[in-house]
Order: sequence, then structure tokens, then C-alpha cells
Amino acid sequence: MSLAIDGGTPVRKNRLPYGRQDITDADIEAVISVLRSDWLTTGPMVEAFEAEIVRVTGAKYAVAVNSGTAALHAAMAALSIGKGDEIIVAALTFAASSNCVLYQGGTPVFVDIDPATLTINPTEVEKVITPQTRAIVAIDYAGQPADYSALGEIAQKHNLILVADACHAIGGSLDGRSVGSLADLSTFSFHPVKHVTTGEGGAITTDNPEWAAKMRYFRNHGITTDHHQREKTGSWYYEMQLLGYNYRITDFQCALGKSQLQRLPESIKRRKELAAQYDTFFANMPEITVPKVRKGASHAYHLYPVLLNLDRLKVGRRQVFEALRAEGIGVNVHYIPVYWHPYYQKLGYKHGLCPAAEDAYERLLSLPMFAAMSNSDFEDTAAAIEKVISAYRR
Ligand SMILES: Cc1ncc(COP(=O)(O)O)c(C=O)c1O
Repeated sequence: MSLAIDGGTPVRKNRLPYGRQDITDADIEAVISVLRSDWLTTGPMVEAFEAEIVRVTGAKYAVAVNSGTAALHAAMAALSIGKGDEIIVAALTFAASSNCVLYQGGTPVFVDIDPATLTINPTEVEKVITPQTRAIVAIDYAGQPADYSALGEIAQKHNLILVADACHAIGGSLDGRSVGSLADLSTFSFHPVKHVTTGEGGAITTDNPEWAAKMRYFRNHGITTDHHQREKTGSWYYEMQLLGYNYRITDFQCALGKSQLQRLPESIKRRKELAAQYDTFFANMPEITVPKVRKGASHAYHLYPVLLNLDRLKVGRRQVFEALRAEGIGVNVHYIPVYWHPYYQKLGYKHGLCPAAEDAYERLLSLPMFAAMSNSDFEDTAAAIEKVISAYRR
């Protein structure tokens, strides 16, 4: 059977994406009812959504904002990160995880991943701590919680704040504790490829009331009351106490998020079923390694990444990627090590800094994984992988 990339018939005609949103009639109704209400922004649905995030994560406070990036920025602002502060960040992540440090004038210090799980390596974290280190930003890569017990011990020993970039991991848990309550601050994204979407949106969870209050000001220009609160008290007076931004999320977005959150358990269940099917499929394919799931972790499977064993293949990752796309399977790559981006290179970060992240990047492919993915979508993906790997096997 010739590969589609060589002119053969593709496994499927319409490309299966690697991730996509799942919107129901109930979601649409929830948005419409807010559009018909008095409050489009800073209204009661923002608080209602935050209350749902608190329920799902077990944290004491949730602050909703208009992106995962804003959530990370607010977390850094809550900690008053500034010039001279060093923040340890996992190298294999989306640029926003470290950009938030730069927004505040701090210095990101990239740390390598554990090659087995692809999450931040606690042993490497200890090696880069200096008197300037203020916090660690761990990434729950693909939906797997990072090693928070080891990271928590390090943070305590060195008096550091532990931040979870949990943008991939809502609905996951570690040793029975929900993502969102595993670190001092946890950030979430509600972009359409994530488990729960608000179109664009994000949130931060914490148990610290001062940080929560500060992040509420921060998302509203640093002003200490919002329209809704002033409406309640009948006062016009407000004060800007710190330099904030407009990171407010609308009420109709929050209505969508709240409605979506009701289906989070179903979404995780379906993702776990698909992951189990993939795991079984790859068990007898030595050309591919599936990252390990840590003991005690409940993986939220935002992504299903695999590592190609290039010594067993005649081609590199780019060719496998292109061949799978030609077969109609929308694979992707998460992530280019952040400091490889030209912006970071100009700041002086060098190739070779995090060898495990760099090696993983050369070999990674994210396969389709989303709640609405059907069994026949899975079968198409498996057939395309079988076809491509058989053609390129050494
Ligand atoms: C790990 C990680 N952090 C942060 C973000 C930023 O989230 P957003 O796109 O909502 O700003 C993303 C989004 O892709 C992400 O995957």
C-alpha cells in the first residue's frame, strides 16, 4: 500500500485534528441566556464560574481571566516578581510559561525534563537554585501532573513558591489531590483545544487570600473595585492601587466555561479510554515509546504525545509528521524547547542547555486526542500509524 505522501490513497480524506472543542446545545443555551441578561462582563457569571473551578480543583480561591497567558502573568504579579528575580521554568513547554517572567522583568532559568515522563526534573531544579531564585514553574506536560511531592520538598527547603502551569491538566490529580491544589498557585487555559473552553480564557487557583485579591485587582487595571461591586454599593469612587491590565473575562465566556465544566469528568473518561487504546496499540511497536505515567498520577490527557525511536526508522520526525498528515491524521509537535525561539536566543540562552528536552523535541509527535474523538477516528489513526511506520521501519 503506497503512502499518501507518495501518491497513494490516504487513510482518510478529511483531516482529523489533534484536538478540538466539544460544544453542546446546553453550552449554547447557557451563553445565550447571559447575552440576554444585564451583565456581559464583571457580572455574576464570573463569580459562578470561579465557584465551579474551586469545586473542581479543591483550591480555596479561583480568579478567572481572559487567557492562560494572563493567568501566568497574574500569578507572577501576585508574587511581585521583578528585576533580579530568577524563576525556574521547565524547558519543554509553550512560551507563555516563561514569557510571564519576562513581562515582570524577571529572569527565566530553564530546567530540563525527566526523559521518561517529560515533566520537570526535580534533581535538575536543585542544581540551579541561587539566592535570587523566587519560584519554580512546573508544567503538567500533556496533562500529567509534575512530581509535586519532590518539587514541594525542594520549594520548602529553599523557601520558594511552587507554581503549576496546569494549562494541560484540569481534571487530573496526584495521590488523590486534584490539579489546582497541588501547588501554591496553579494556572489554567480555556483555549478551544483544552478540556474546557471559553473561546479564550484562563484562571488561577490558590489558597492564599492576599494573592487572590491582588490578582483580582491585577486583571482590572489594578483597580480595587469592579463595576459590579460599585453597582452594589451605589458609589462612583475607585482607586487604582497597582499597575494592572485589562485581563477581564466576559460573563458569556464564563457561562460557556461553567457549562463545559459539568462535562469535565466525561471528557477525562473518554480521553483515558483513548489513551488506553493507544497504549495497547503501541505496546508491540518498538519504533515508538509512550511517556511514562507517574505512580499516583491521574493523567488528564490534554495531549497524547509519543516519542519516535529514530534509530529504528529510516527517516526523521519531519517525514513521519508529513506522511501522517498526508494520510489525514492531524499530528502536531509539543514543544520546541522555549529557549530555542529566536527571541530567547537573542537574550543569550544557548542550544544544549536542556539535552533531554532537546532530544524529546526531535522525536515528539502529538496524536489526535479529544473527547469527541470516535472509535473509528481512533482506528483511522492506528491504521495510518501502522502504514507509515511499516513503510519507514529499518
Ligand atoms: C502549557 C501552557 N501554558 C500556557 C498556555 C497559554 O494559554 P492561552 O493560550 O490560553 O493564553 C498554554 C496554551 O496553549 C499552554 O499549553
